[in-house]
Amino acid sequence: MTRHSIAVIPGDGIGPEVVAAAEPVLIRAARRDGVDLEIERFPYGAEHYRQTGETLPNHAFARLEREFDAILVGALGDPRVPNNEHARDILLGLRFRLDLYVNFRPIRLLHPRLTPLKRAEAIDFVVFRENTEGPYVGRGRALHVGTPDEEQISEEVHTRRGVTRILEAAFRWADEHGRTRVTMCDKANAIPFHRIWGECFTAVGAQFPDIECEHRYIDALALELVRAPERFQLIVTNNLYGDIVSDLGAGLVGGLGLTPSANLHPGRPGLFEPVHGSAPPLSGKAVANPIATILTGALMLDALGHPESAERIEAAVQRVIADGPTTPDLGGSASTLDVAHAIEQAVDG
Ligand code: NAD
Ligand code: IPM
Ligand code: MN
Repeated sequence: MTRHSIAVIPGDGIGPEVVAAAEPVLIRAARRDGVDLEIERFPYGAEHYRQTGETLPNHAFARLEREFDAILVGALGDPRVPNNEHARDILLGLRFRLDLYVNFRPIRLLHPRLTPLKRAEAIDFVVFRENTEGPYVGRGRALHVGTPDEEQISEEVHTRRGVTRILEAAFRWADEHGRTRVTMCDKANAIPFHRIWGECFTAVGAQFPDIECEHRYIDALALELVRAPERFQLIVTNNLYGDIVSDLGAGLVGGLGLTPSANLHPGRPGLFEPVHGSAPPLSGKAVANPIATILTGALMLDALGHPESAERIEAAVQRVIADGPTTPDLGGSASTLDVAHAIEQAVDG
């Protein structure tokens, strides 16, 4: 039996519900392939922060960094914590401190009825979101606070090393997965320092002569994603635009209840989380769709070297989406656990 130790941070809102629903599915799918998932839960989130003042203590970070093969996160964010400070420390803290520079977010239409578009052609692209730079570095300053001349200055950082490595990861993945076009998006027509993206794109793209390099400004990309999403194969972009494009992509294929994500640094343990957040209005009602978290688990198993388990889960999810049951976001009336149980059974079937 192969064994993997997995750290799980269920987090806030619907996070604990979708994680509790997904875990048995992942354990079952992995076991069928002779893989044992050993799970340890961590309590970090809004409730823990409110009770103890701790966001992610150093001793926990040290263990998360060294002792696990992967980290699975539900969601972080709670209206009772102003400015989301605990979530920034925990989620962004882990992404930055573990240097997980690739945020890999596949967008795939799993059933034609799920898209709100009139035409239901195949939608299948991945977002490679730079995950350690951009405005997310949180650098800046406030001047003349409280006066009419107040300025809140937020800096974005795009380093040659950082931009090059996300582009390389994107092209490498495209090459290994038979994708023939990479679309890079920025806003260099308005933001002069986005030019580094174009420079690095040309340089890295030249090393992959069989892959077409395409550039779009983010505004035009948003339009085209709605008009002709089927033409995109891989979109690589900065941290902020990647965040936005991944929710837009989710909207094209059935919503945030379905879209998984992986935070990676090739060769190191990754952090896996659905694209969605803690959805406070859904919390405690057993209506959250567990599929995004279950597919996130499939990405995790794939990264751990078990593509057969990942495929088994994806096939089971696809079957349950086609035949039901589904949660209300997909038009059904089933609960989070009903859907997860159906997927668990389909994994066996
Ligand atoms: P959200 O992703 O929580 O919700 C956006 C919309 O998607 C809502 O309509 C919600 O009902 C729906 N939705 C989300 N997940 C769903 C699911 N599993 N099933 C069915 N519907 C689902 O985004 P938000 O409302 O902007 O943010 C809420 C909180 O979550 C905020 O504190 C935010 O900062 C945080 N957040 C955290 C993460 C994360 O932990 N990775 C990601 C995004 C937002
Ligand atoms: C995401 C989320 C986070 C982000 C928030 C919660 C900080 O929206 O994972 O997509 O912006 O990266
Ligand atoms: Mn987001």
